[in-house]
Amino acid sequence: MDFAADYSRSLDPFPQYRAMRESSPVFQDEQSGSWHVFRYDNVQRVLSEHATFSSRMGGDDPSETGQLFAASLITTDPPRHRQLRSLVTQAFTPKAVDALAPRISALTDELLDGIAPAGTADLIAGLAYPLPVIVIAELMGIPPGDRDRFKQWSDVIVSQTRSGAEDADHHATNVEMTGYFLDLIEQRRRQPGNDLISNLLSAEIDGQKLSVPELLGFCSLLLVAGNETTTNLIGNAVLSFTEVPGTFERLLAEPQLLPQAIEEVLRYRSPVQSMYRVAAADTALGDVQIPAGAPLVAWIGSANRDERHFTEPDEFDIDRGPSRHLAFGQGIHFCLGAPLARLEARIALEATLSRLPGLTVAAGSRLERMDSTIVYGLKELPVTWEAG
Ligand code: HEM
Repeated sequence: MDFAADYSRSLDPFPQYRAMRESSPVFQDEQSGSWHVFRYDNVQRVLSEHATFSSRMGGDDPSETGQLFAASLITTDPPRHRQLRSLVTQAFTPKAVDALAPRISALTDELLDGIAPAGTADLIAGLAYPLPVIVIAELMGIPPGDRDRFKQWSDVIVSQTRSGAEDADHHATNVEMTGYFLDLIEQRRRQPGNDLISNLLSAEIDGQKLSVPELLGFCSLLLVAGNETTTNLIGNAVLSFTEVPGTFERLLAEPQLLPQAIEEVLRYRSPVQSMYRVAAADTALGDVQIPAGAPLVAWIGSANRDERHFTEPDEFDIDRGPSRHLAFGQGIHFCLGAPLARLEARIALEATLSRLPGLTVAAGSRLERMDSTIVYGLKELPVTWEAG
């Protein structure tokens, strides 16, 4: 059995996680050799104890992580990680993110204008997918005329993460996109603007700047780490809200509850279900010995349902209060895009609630999980509402 792949198919992997937390909280998959970690305390340790659990995946790792996050930052350890992170943080400030709010609202409205009159749509294709792609394009300063190309590249990259297959199309796209980013970087070097790439070019720490390959790596990391995850946060939120009667009405009447409802979605249906590490030295998790060099999979999706940490973990409860979920990771690799993801989700969901009244999942639709062991979300989310 390919252990992780087995978990990727189900929209409800949570009973399996629960069984593993009980019977084999630290479990070695004989076939792949990977150690799978299921309980909150251990997942937290694996994610945050960077000296023991390294993020360096190596260039020859053919695993899904290798493809998904084939980039600097997320796959480096200190001291290099600290330098890269400080450089990128200079460009990715809370102020820069907050300044995007009016644009995110306008883009959301445009997308909703496109679907609102119909009374029915796939909410992933109509809103949750395009919104983060366009926001990232704007953030990077992609000229509006090139946005369609950028969107096509994202489509190919996303279809690869959604289907799990890498093909010739994907390769050609990578080559084309790399060429495009190289040109853009050169342009911004000559003529800096008020965009992320220009800011990254000028950011400096300890007398060092980002190299061009690092800049490129960061651009593609943003595309993958930032888009698919935010898409799924929005989709998973709509699904979770429709499952508990009265949630939509309540959030519409009290939109100030949206941020806490979004935190509960992050816990309950974490868009990133697992992250990878490698043991840097012999170590122990509970009474299980982990040898140096062992690959580990930290199951965030399981930690966030751990009954040792959360009461009634399988209840979706927007009144749960601060829950210290691990959906954005923890420690030095804590998600850089968390403020942006939260902002986009809040704006998109608030507009969806008010503009698509009576929103429900379309009767008879068969919801399917996208094919990925890391990312958790729906392939499509067919919904209906009262149009006009
Ligand atoms: C709901 C949406 C998102 C979720 C659930 C999510 C989840 C995560 C997680 C779990 C990590 C930690 C990885 C680790 O410990 O190895 C991470 C790191 C990261 N995320 Fe996100 N992410 C989201 C959105 C975004 C967005 C919108 C961006 C950027 C635009 C982004 C950029 C990054 C980057 C650059 C890192 C690497 C940080 C580092 O290694 O220091 N993410 N994300």
